Amino acid sequence: MQIQILPSLLAADLANLGAEIRRVADAGADALHLDIMDGHFVPNLSFAPDTSALCKRYLPEGFPINTHLMMTNPDAYAERFIEKGSATIQYHLEMREQIDIHTLATQIHAKGARVGLVLNPDTPAEVATPYLDCADEILCMTVFPGYGGQSFIADVLPKITTLRRLNPTLDIMVDGGVNFETAEQAAAAGANAFVAGSFLFKQIDMAAAIAELRARCTAAFATA
Ligand code: DX5
Ligand code: ZN
Repeated sequence: MQIQILPSLLAADLANLGAEIRRVADAGADALHLDIMDGHFVPNLSFAPDTSALCKRYLPEGFPINTHLMMTNPDAYAERFIEKGSATIQYHLEMREQIDIHTLATQIHAKGARVGLVLNPDTPAEVATPYLDCADEILCMTVFPGYGGQSFIADVLPKITTLRRLNPTLDIMVDGGVNFETAEQAAAAGANAFVAGSFLFKQIDMAAAIAELRARCTAAFATA
């Protein structure tokens, strides 16, 4: 499977946002991860649809923006993010009783974007099984969402293995506390896509770090 590395803009130097966005593409990342927080689903605020348009301005043509909606009402915003250039919309299965997961996936696909379904660290794999038919990727949070710079929760690893066994070709992404060591653990469990915020943006040479992360994850994934 294709190993994907996605730097999270949340950890960028916001005083130099244009240069930081360019740095992600120049460093050989596969996509940019854009974290959207609503102050309800998570106790924090971050970016808005216009941030997706801003990213697009500084990224090369066709470079994907992967937008993670940490919101109670992702259905009210998904289309706006797609119109502003997001290629993938990720939303949380914890909201499955409030929003229709399948209907939103259909709407996102109709707009030409990919669907990512997200599980918090304490949401079991079984919650995702009724929805795997409409997901292009599953994102397993390895921290409780809301803040960058938290520690990787290794208890999530068996869930990744369960999901990988259910579907050998699905993109399984991890997000939160990712560094060389934790990414290797997640890859060995069956993850093939890795969001990393603080770890990548603190690097002086982001390209070298992405190359090493990719090499380590490729080797570890082969053992999964
Ligand atoms: C957490 C966000 C993550 C965050 C990861 O709420 O969804 O994408 O940016 O940051 P690090 O890699 O620093 O844990
Ligand atoms: Zn995220």
